[in-house]
Amino acid sequence: MTTGARSRAVGTPVARVEGHAKVTGTARYAYEQPAGAGPPLYAHPVLSTVPHGRVRALETMAARTLDGVVTVLTPDNAGQLDDLRGAQDGELAVLQSNEVAFRGQFIAVVVAESPEAAQQAAGLVEADYDELPHHTELRGDSGDLYTPERVNPAFAPDTVEGDVDGALDSAEHMVDVTYLTPMEHNNPMEPHAAVALWEAEGGPADRPIPAGSDAERPSSDGVATVRLTLYASTQGAHTVRSTLAPLFGLRKEEMRVVSPHVGGGFGSKGMPHAHDVLAVLCARAVPGRAVKLALTRQQTFSLAGHRTPTLQRLRLAADSTGRMAAVAHEVTEHTSTVKEFAEQTACGTRMMYAAPNRRTAHRLAALNVPVPSWMRAPGEAPGIFALETAMDELASACELDPIELRLRNDPPLDPESGKPWSGRRLVECLRQGARRFGWQEGPPGSRRRREGDQLVGMGVAASTYPCYTSPGSRALVRHDGTEHYTVRIGAADIGTGTWTTLTQIAADALDRPVEAVTVEIGDTDLPHATVAGGSSGMASWGPTIVATARRFRTEHGQQPAAGAVMTGELPDNPDAEQFALHSFGAQFAEVRVDVDTGEVRVTRMLGVFSAGRIINPRTARSQFIGGMTMGLSMALHEHGVLDHRTGHVVNHDLASYHIAAHADIADVEAEWLEETDPHANTMGSRGIGEIGIVGAPAAVVNAVYDATGIRGRSLPLTPDKLV
Ligand code: MOS
Repeated sequence: MTTGARSRAVGTPVARVEGHAKVTGTARYAYEQPAGAGPPLYAHPVLSTVPHGRVRALETMAARTLDGVVTVLTPDNAGQLDDLRGAQDGELAVLQSNEVAFRGQFIAVVVAESPEAAQQAAGLVEADYDELPHHTELRGDSGDLYTPERVNPAFAPDTVEGDVDGALDSAEHMVDVTYLTPMEHNNPMEPHAAVALWEAEGGPADRPIPAGSDAERPSSDGVATVRLTLYASTQGAHTVRSTLAPLFGLRKEEMRVVSPHVGGGFGSKGMPHAHDVLAVLCARAVPGRAVKLALTRQQTFSLAGHRTPTLQRLRLAADSTGRMAAVAHEVTEHTSTVKEFAEQTACGTRMMYAAPNRRTAHRLAALNVPVPSWMRAPGEAPGIFALETAMDELASACELDPIELRLRNDPPLDPESGKPWSGRRLVECLRQGARRFGWQEGPPGSRRRREGDQLVGMGVAASTYPCYTSPGSRALVRHDGTEHYTVRIGAADIGTGTWTTLTQIAADALDRPVEAVTVEIGDTDLPHATVAGGSSGMASWGPTIVATARRFRTEHGQQPAAGAVMTGELPDNPDAEQFALHSFGAQFAEVRVDVDTGEVRVTRMLGVFSAGRIINPRTARSQFIGGMTMGLSMALHEHGVLDHRTGHVVNHDLASYHIAAHADIADVEAEWLEETDPHANTMGSRGIGEIGIVGAPAAVVNAVYDATGIRGRSLPLTPDKLV
């Protein structure tokens, strides 16, 4: 694996290139961006307070006449959107009708000279509703369940191989269990925000389209007039533009999206949401003035996407030696009535173990709930929780050590596709982790000990995440003179460290030190880049930069002129068709459970991962332990409580929606196998954003069983379930 140069920066713990700007407060996040000639205006939305129905009347006079209020937009005056691509983008059909599909949906917005005036006025808007019956409760026996055409991102909803029922009936050992996971909410540190500026007639002069920008292609004269600028907090500036420009009747070169710094996303900023559309509707109503819109933390609970609750039935069958004969994984989840999002909950089960008879199925209920979307490891996080907890239950049934059970069922080829693995080293992860963690062999429950009023136990679970590469990214390399280079790519760093790893990759590819390379990201004026999602960002943009740098060096040689430029794109990877590309990991947890209160403390966690080549051990460790912490949080704390009488997520703030805090976290460590995946891409890396969370909840829940003998089948595993 080479970048064509002696590798120097890749593999070293380079500090974040934007770290100084962040800690000194000079890094600008979306809401802080100055825009427009005069002072900005501020928007504050009005949200529906019923879960289903239609707005019969909106009383806006009190709001309109409040000092400082510029306008109040409702479906009557917000203006039409152009292209909503049928029902698919119902989430983005903001203020296009009086219909209410869930509680917490936009029904109006106030634009004012100050955020205080906007908020006060929004509180004065009164809505009368014609209410309709609503359904918000996910039930496994509901008559309204349907099979989606595909599950995210493009998988078949159902698969079947062999005679699952026959194998289940005749098996020596069988577990048949149902797991419940709740609604969970992405809570990035930076809530969702946007600043929009719609240029007034006679606004800025035409400007040249930047070299390497994908706007240069459709426009023959190389000149564009930007009508709309959106400073967004997003995982993909180009995705925001390609989704929103058509809604506002704009060619893409007429819209610019800027997003250099993003304070976390966890999937919730992977695609534009309704607030982005709302900000632009406001800006279009007041051309020439920038409009700032920041959702409150509470508003993000209904407007930024969330993880669907799941009901998951797992059936596993094994022979007397623990060899698996069958696995069946059937999932029920919810979606909204305005937009379908079908999470791929059971897809991880398709490739995990070697059972010859396998069945997976996904069913959806479209309810009067906010629009669900991506949340860190959508699918795998809840799905592998269920599978890996069921594996622990199977280990109990077989009276086997849970690691031994996994070793006996490790498939030599991908059971789903029949393809060879690009590198499945789960067994090594499990063995290395067992050694480092001090795992004592034996079936679940055998590690239990009592110390005072606490029961102590250990759990293990496997982890996996696919290696996705997104086609379509491009990059530009420019020699600035004096051996300094600028690399441009419209990528995103949502706090992961990708800006830094891309700089390391670029430096090695150009055979320069990292200080001699500046990478520019987060702007649609930069060459097209795909979204930071599915752990595909660095693994898609890195090879794009490497390919571009190679072209540059071939074309311009060792002594390039100042100003020499080259563009390039992501090369094809034929190996992606030949091999099953997945990352793996082993997660270990030690817990102490108070015998009187049922409180669970996680005293130690260890993850051992196989994710190909690690570009930066410092930022990688943060990704892994961050994911593991989020997994602990999922196991013990996170629970969006939907009141089915009102359709309201009642604990819609960080006081009552508990996310693991520092006090909940003791000793979390991550390590990884030193390796390179020659089939993944030119860097040999598989992406690490999501795998840390996968398997971590099951490790905690399995440890609680080891300690107490109580199976946690409904998350979160709160004290009431243990006493
Ligand atoms: Mo990740 S949830 O695909 O941003």
